[in-house]
Amino acid sequence: MKIGVLTGGGDCPGLNAVIRAVVRKADAYDSRVVGIRNGWKGLLDLTTMDLDLKMVSGILHIGGTIVGTSRTNPLKDPAGPDKVLKNLRILGLDALIAIGGEDTLGAASKLFDKGLPVVGVPKTIDNDLYGTDFTFGFDTAVSIATEAIDRIHTTAESHNRVMVVEVMGRNAGWIATFSGIAGGADVVLIPEKPIDMDNVCDLILRRHSRGKSYSIVVVAEGAKFADKPGMNGKLIVQETRTDEFGHVRLGGISQLLAQEIEKRTQFETRYVVLGHIQRGGSPTAHDRVLATRYGVFATEMVHRGDFGKMAALQGNSIVAIPLAEATSKIKTVDMGLYSIAEEFFG
Ligand code: F6P
Repeated sequence: MKIGVLTGGGDCPGLNAVIRAVVRKADAYDSRVVGIRNGWKGLLDLTTMDLDLKMVSGILHIGGTIVGTSRTNPLKDPAGPDKVLKNLRILGLDALIAIGGEDTLGAASKLFDKGLPVVGVPKTIDNDLYGTDFTFGFDTAVSIATEAIDRIHTTAESHNRVMVVEVMGRNAGWIATFSGIAGGADVVLIPEKPIDMDNVCDLILRRHSRGKSYSIVVVAEGAKFADKPGMNGKLIVQETRTDEFGHVRLGGISQLLAQEIEKRTQFETRYVVLGHIQRGGSPTAHDRVLATRYGVFATEMVHRGDFGKMAALQGNSIVAIPLAEATSKIKTVDMGLYSIAEEFFG
């Protein structure tokens, strides 16, 4: 068989581990793998690279993706799907493995309906893909955010400040909740629960009345104010222009939050946006293992013709679930888990 592999959307640690696993497993089947450059874009403009055992040697621990990525939407142009199918034939590919999040796999699902023999692998630091307990990349992002919170603790304490830490996650608060629990945050704010400023300030004041002179607030980039005039329920954005999948560029909530906390509590407050640091560098051991399991399983799915599905982690097993199901909605934070974070507020 000749298998294409592409990585789409925002990069994340572990992509190379999946690519390596696909090439190694394909080799065991005597199949060949072609890397599609820069996500769906490479299937539209026919830019590819051969992936052999030598190419994937030594990449397991390296962040990013050797085939490149983009946020190109192959369905944006009505002629896109036919072009993808035609180019698949031109490249002589029997199957495609698409490694991506809700956008890349949403496109894969629609292209499967049009005849594309595709299998999906769930990637995103946001951990918001439905139907899988965890996406790879998430554990690394949480580890990076937790280390940052640990560092922010010491400077917050030295200066008797409130520090607001903004983490990624788009419309789900998984990174905030996990890193908030792991980093011992005093308040964690997530998109799933609108921000009540009175409550946030009460928690900080309560903590400081107990003799603490500093606080750490972790906020997800997609969190929204419940009670700030003119901003209620609105996403705070850096860029209102949307990408090809209709997403705005989030960012800036921590600055507004810091200003409001300082104004209301009179405690000196600073903010820090962790940004793309959360997506860079080496994957954790956990993500290397998960990415490798996904890569091997997806290659097996291809060889048994199990198309239109995504490899998913359910409990401790990797299973195949329909792409249509995985992309039917996003997986938001389990509020039972969030209540664990709340136990430590204030
Ligand atoms: O989906 C992953 C993610 O890192 C989100 O957490 C974030 O909102 C977005 O991508 C940032 O995208 P970009 O790399 O295009 O700025």
